[in-house]
Amino acid sequence: MDFTAESKFVMTEQSLPKANQRLAEHLRVNHADERAAQTIYKGQHAVLRGHPQAGEIQHMMEQEHLDTFDTLLNDYKVRPSLFDPLWGAAGFMLGAATAALGPKTTLACTIAV
Ligand SMILES: [Fe+2]
Repeated sequence: MDFTAESKFVMTEQSLPKANQRLAEHLRVNHADERAAQTIYKGQHAVLRGHPQAGEIQHMMEQEHLDTFDTLLNDYKVRPSLFDPLWGAAGFMLGAATAALGPKTTLACTIAV
């Protein structure tokens, strides 16, 4: 099965063969994962702004992985998760809540992510 970028112009997600449906599912899940991770860090940073740990969190808020999956979703015409806004809101709340509990909880959440 060929998953090269050349196929992106002739296939839509609805017309993809089964193997490509599997690829679409993986891309969608990984995109959702990156969305949640990004918003967890944003929630942590919102609470710990000015804390010595804030710089480390700022560093983890890199956008590169999410941008990569945004590009892949566009290239392969894969829609994001229907729950994408929910993952974003839930991630922010998880990040803010763990940060409010303290730096150790923040770090535990970060390691778990
Ligand atoms: Fe990442």
